[in-house]
Amino acid sequence: MSWSGRHLLDVEGWSESDVDRVVTVAEDFRVLSRGGAVTYLSNTHVALLFAEPSTRTRLSFEIAARRLGAKTYVLDPGSSSMVKGETLVDTVRNLDAIGFSALVVRHHRAGAAAVAARYFGGTVINAGDGWHAHPTQALVDAFTLRDVFGQTGLRGRKVAIVGDVLHSRVARSNVWTLTGAGAEVWLCGPAAWVQGLESLPVRVTTDCGAALRDAAVVMGLRVQKERMAPGVSLSEYVRDYQVTESRLMRTAPESVYMHPGPINEGVEVTREVARGPRSLVLEQARNGVPMRMAVLSLLAVGVGATPEMLEPALARS
Ligand code: NCD
Repeated sequence: MSWSGRHLLDVEGWSESDVDRVVTVAEDFRVLSRGGAVTYLSNTHVALLFAEPSTRTRLSFEIAARRLGAKTYVLDPGSSSMVKGETLVDTVRNLDAIGFSALVVRHHRAGAAAVAARYFGGTVINAGDGWHAHPTQALVDAFTLRDVFGQTGLRGRKVAIVGDVLHSRVARSNVWTLTGAGAEVWLCGPAAWVQGLESLPVRVTTDCGAALRDAAVVMGLRVQKERMAPGVSLSEYVRDYQVTESRLMRTAPESVYMHPGPINEGVEVTREVARGPRSLVLEQARNGVPMRMAVLSLLAVGVGATPEMLEPALARS
C-alpha cells in the first residue's frame, strides 16, 4: 500500500491497484453498514480532532470506528485547550501520551495531518487539511464510481470537476484517484479559481461547455462564499457555471452528477440536478461509512476484511 503502513495523509502517487485494494475491502464492509458490528478494533481509542466544521466526514468516521468495535472521542477545538492557544503539535503530543491509538484530523492548514503524524505514535488519518488533500473523500468517490462504471469503466472517460477548484482539497485528491483509474480529468471554473493548477495531469478550462461536452461524470464543488476571490461574482458564477439540466444535455447520455457536500442548491447546482436521477450525492454519503471502515481497518489492524472474517458478525445480524 502506498500509505506506508501507518497513516493516510494523501492519495497522491497511489496506483490504481492501491485504490482497488481499499475499494474491495469497503465492498466487504458494505454488508455491515446498516447494522451489526465487528470487533477488530475493540482495543482502539480513536480521537477525532476536527478544527473545521464537518457533518458527513466526521459522523461517518465516528460510525465506522464504532462499527469496528473502537471507542471514539470527539475533540472540539472550540472547547479544548486549543482556544487557550495550545498548538496543534502540543495537542497531538498530549493525545498520544493519553493513549489514543488513532487520530482523525481535519485542519484549516495544509500539511496539518503530516505534522500530526510526526508527533503521534499511532495512526493518523487526514480528514481534510486546508486546500491540500482529502484522501478519504476521493476514495469514497472512487468507490461510488465503481458501482456505476465497474472496475475499469473510467478508462478513457471524461470527468469534469466544476467550481472553486483552487480552494478545493476534494478536487486535488480526486485528480490523483481519477487519473490513476485512467479517466481524462478536466478542471473548470472562473479564471481566478483554476489558476496555478498547470502542474496537475489534467486539462484546465474556463469554458464550462467544453468541460461538460461528453463527460461521463460531472463533479460539483461548493462555492465557498467565505473564500470568494476578487473578480468572481456569485451572479456571474451562476450564469456561467451552475450545473443545470440544460447544461447536462451536453454530457454523455448516462452521465452522473457528484458533489462532496455541503451543497449550495441554486448556486453551484440546481435543486433539480442535485436531487435528480443522475445525482449520486446520497450514495457518496452512504458509501462514506464502509469506505472509512476499510481505511481504519487496513491502517489500524493491518488487515482488510475478508468474507471469512465477516462471517461471525453476519451470522449474528
Ligand atoms: C468538503 C470538505 O470539507 O473538504 N466536504 C466534505 O468533506 N464532504 C467540501 C467543502 O467544504 O466544500
